[in-house]
Amino acid sequence: MAGNPQKRLARTTTIGNLKGGSGKTTNAVNLACMLAHGIGDQPPARVLFVDLEPLRTASRWLGAEAPDAERSSAVLFHAVPRNGDRPAHLERLRAAIQRAENEPVDIVPAHADGLEAADGIRGKEFDLKDNLALLAEDYDHVFLDLPGSRTGRLARSSLVASSGVLVPLQPGGNSIESTMDFFEMVEEIRRGANPLLSVDGIVISTAGSRGDVDAQIAAESLAEVLSYYRVFTSRIRTLKAIQRASSFRVSVKQMGDREAIRDYTALAEEWMEAIGQAGAAN
Ligand SMILES: Nc1ncnc2c1ncn2[C@@H]1O[C@H](COP(=O)(O)OP(=O)(O)OP(=O)(O)O)[C@@H](O)[C@H]1O
Ligand SMILES: [Mg+2]
Repeated sequence: MAGNPQKRLARTTTIGNLKGGSGKTTNAVNLACMLAHGIGDQPPARVLFVDLEPLRTASRWLGAEAPDAERSSAVLFHAVPRNGDRPAHLERLRAAIQRAENEPVDIVPAHADGLEAADGIRGKEFDLKDNLALLAEDYDHVFLDLPGSRTGRLARSSLVASSGVLVPLQPGGNSIESTMDFFEMVEEIRRGANPLLSVDGIVISTAGSRGDVDAQIAAESLAEVLSYYRVFTSRIRTLKAIQRASSFRVSVKQMGDREAIRDYTALAEEWMEAIGQAGAAN
């Protein structure tokens, strides 16, 4: 673990939305990998990806299998010891981190039973934050990939542990209603456990087959009902290559698809600007 000479601590970002299949994992994996490869003239970032989905979508994508709950993201929900047991605890955390099979990112893979058990516990919403703080010097960015339709400890802990939240939205259906439910949870966390949590923005992804019409309607509705949140002007189009990347276990960057790389580069740049890291070449 080469220490960062400037000791910049990792920025933790949750990718969340209560709506299932809204593109959380797809955007989380591709954005994380874009940063890890280096965007534009930015140096490659040191990225840790935390899979919090019991379905293990991102873990499978990044080729990381948790051998047991102890060596999975479930370990991040154990209480950090307050005394001399800390070095041993840190070793436990590090033992849960793997290198992705084909990408320059580290990942803490998910374990279905481990995460279900962690989610079932009430309260204790600071353990994830405390554990990630122990790893913060080793990374520039930590991404937390949340499962949909959960409002329990996984989601709340993730928002408590994060500096910002990025919300993918798939146009159509009841996506805006589900997204509003998610923002209610975000606002509740902001009023209580994490007042500094920022809503980085909403990213419209997978515009429907009618071209950009759905996306345009979604953008207009969002501007009406959620006008106080940023909606990124960069959108992620529905592209075969984006879907294929997951079966090839690579990001769109690694796969080399120009269209998809264009979308994710634009999003990454806009997001970096939103979080105040644009041009921060260090
Ligand atoms: N831009 C895109 N172009 C093509 N397919 C996409 C795109 N974004 C997502 N998909 C596909 O849509 C499906 C759902 O995406 P994804 O798994 O990222 O959603 P999710 O929000 O993480 O779902 P869950 O709530 O189950 O965790 C996947 O099959 C994925 O490959
Ligand atoms: Mg997912």
